[in-house]
Amino acid sequence: MSKINIVLGTFFGDEGKGKIIDYLATKSDVTVRCSGGNNAGHTIQVNGKKYAFHLAPSGILTPGTLAVIGNGVVVDPRVLIEELEVLRGDGYSIENLRISDKANVIMPYHIEMDKMLEAQRAPGDKIGTTARGIGPCYCDKYERCAIRMEDLIGDTFEEKVRKNVKNKNIIFKANGWQESDAEAIIEEYKPLAEYLKSYVCDTINLLHDCLEKDMSMLCEGAQATLLDIDFGSYPFVTSSSPSVGGVCTGTGLSAHDIGEVYGVLKAYSSRVGEGPYITEQNNEIGDTIRELGHEYGATTKRPRRCGWLDLVALNYAVKVNGITGLAINHLDTIGKLPTFKLCVAYEDNGVRTTNYSTNAAFQERCKPIYEEFEGNFEIGGATRFEELPEKAKIYLKRIEELTGVPVKFIGTGAGREELIVR
Ligand code: IMP
Repeated sequence: MSKINIVLGTFFGDEGKGKIIDYLATKSDVTVRCSGGNNAGHTIQVNGKKYAFHLAPSGILTPGTLAVIGNGVVVDPRVLIEELEVLRGDGYSIENLRISDKANVIMPYHIEMDKMLEAQRAPGDKIGTTARGIGPCYCDKYERCAIRMEDLIGDTFEEKVRKNVKNKNIIFKANGWQESDAEAIIEEYKPLAEYLKSYVCDTINLLHDCLEKDMSMLCEGAQATLLDIDFGSYPFVTSSSPSVGGVCTGTGLSAHDIGEVYGVLKAYSSRVGEGPYITEQNNEIGDTIRELGHEYGATTKRPRRCGWLDLVALNYAVKVNGITGLAINHLDTIGKLPTFKLCVAYEDNGVRTTNYSTNAAFQERCKPIYEEFEGNFEIGGATRFEELPEKAKIYLKRIEELTGVPVKFIGTGAGREELIVR
């Protein structure tokens, strides 16, 4: 019986999970998405062509690999079909796709609600959502009025749309927002349901069968630990569980079924949207990192806030997720700076601490304590650890020492193959 290996983000997303997922996906029989929706995004380059995926699991590009959208994902059928059509247009088969009958469907009124709520928040309270309807869709899930994939392709769809639209319109009207049209939505979604119907199935039993058949399994995380609805910097978080717990609730696999948990990070850090960020460099250094690392959102194109790597936060992600191996991207980028810093502890009211908390007052109070490292090293494209300059090895060794977790993957350039696997 096999186990499922997991790739998760350790900070605020955009750590470069896609690169590690690509590498592992080509060696996997099954790739699974378990949480989030098309707020996530990663680009895969195959045969010189770039594919920007928001919903399709990476395995979709590998013939014979099952690409599973688990029950914890929120699916915008319009976005998914757009991605699938691009692939089909380029000659890829999408027959290996499976979508959980329990995955929740993002409806047009979720997107409107997302935009309305964000527009109403005062400047300091804005979450900076991706406006893809993610939060409102998960709200319906917990309100128990959601439309699941099994509804979309079944007989309950029309009635549920009418009921939901009636309720949402009360809120839209009270806020002076454009109301939704249930009949127009039903007409628009009928052909989408027809398109997706044959891919919808019970993925819970399917995934357990795959484990029993000893197939190699990969769960590709979306977003990251500090955006987790429970463990992140609430309320500046996403509305799902992108940490390890979300793998169980979003797939139906148990804690016993989990194998390696790879935590992905960058040699520096970044954040999109609002919220506290202790090691942020809101200055020339941050601007330089942004340009060197091309730190602009894959989904929204927004410039990312940039700063130093924070080991206090990383150790929190290690604890929460049970991380067994680290994957560090952009080592080449940090090496372009003459010197750079690593946050190894915080000073909290004059007391040194290495315990992270997302509590807003704690985040406000704490000052980072840094160690400084020498940069100016070139590692472009290295594929073997031995090729790395001593200065780069010193940095990696310090991260391993302070986390107690081995560095298993090192990103040495933007290309797919610019990766060291240890
Ligand atoms: P939502 O997920 O669209 O509701 O957005 C909530 C917060 O999570 C915002 O700050 C977003 O910028 C952030 N967020 C959501 N998905 C991602 C991601 O894939 N990478 C980075 N930030 C994300």
